[in-house]
Amino acid sequence: MAGDEAVVRAELGLDTTVSHSARIWNYWLGGKDNYAVDRIAGDRVAQMLPIIVTQARADRAFLGRAIRHLVGEEGIRQFLDIGTGLPTAENTHEVAQRIAPETRIVYVDNDPLVLVHARALLTSAPEGVCDYVEGDLRDPDQILDKAARTLEFSKPVALMLFGVLHHIPDTEEVYRIVDRLVGALAPGSFLAINHSTSAISGQAMEEAVRHWNAVGTPSMTLRTPEQIARFFEGLDLLSPGVVSCSRWRPDTGPDGDLPAEVDEFGGVARKP
Ligand SMILES: C[S@@+](CC[C@H](N)C(=O)[O-])C[C@H]1O[C@@H](n2cnc3c(N)ncnc32)[C@H](O)[C@@H]1O
Repeated sequence: MAGDEAVVRAELGLDTTVSHSARIWNYWLGGKDNYAVDRIAGDRVAQMLPIIVTQARADRAFLGRAIRHLVGEEGIRQFLDIGTGLPTAENTHEVAQRIAPETRIVYVDNDPLVLVHARALLTSAPEGVCDYVEGDLRDPDQILDKAARTLEFSKPVALMLFGVLHHIPDTEEVYRIVDRLVGALAPGSFLAINHSTSAISGQAMEEAVRHWNAVGTPSMTLRTPEQIARFFEGLDLLSPGVVSCSRWRPDTGPDGDLPAEVDEFGGVARKP
């Protein structure tokens, strides 16, 4: 960040003394938009749970496969991506607009740093649109209002909730939020979710998350694959259902080997 960095940080409301989810995620993905406090916390979690870096990259790869399917096979041209994260390689609009340049994307995050970087770096193809909304998932109505500047909710929209639902601690509240958002979507819309669990690494993942909750913000709440499947109730879940994200329609190697499972479970479903 150029100029008087301390002033810029203060104006943005950034607290660089506390590690933050978006910046640690960026660090694990090999990005540069993170501070010393994030790298220390990220390294500590990676010591406790070495698979975390593979897991973060599997999440992004799943995001790419889901978007390619939604745009290429299902004809989706509108995305609402909540919990965008710091720009990295293969962001939602890049994957979507490579197939259909006219695709419209609304990115939503509640971290001011994410929005500053998103506005600068997530630039749309001329045929399409990228909009950036500072919004909190806990206020879905406000997100829907602001997203309506760019998206036509009378037409299908793909709602992407990747790596964000586990930042809402109350399980009943997070179900209500997702139900509210999905309720606003037209028939033929899609819901795509990726959510942390401990189904694969068990105690190691639980301890890493306990450590994260002691040093980082926002807190994380792990949920079981069954709890994650509940988000899709009432929707038509695409095959293979709710699975470890590395196993959602994976690109298999020439020997047909499946990638190892990771503790991020997700799925994609159509609103009937
Ligand atoms: C782990 S990153 C995931 C980024 C990206 N979606 C991905 O899967 O690679 C989580 C993102 O969710 C954002 N976030 C956390 N809680 C949020 C909330 N209540 N409302 C909106 N965004 C939130 C964080 O700022 C961060 O950018």
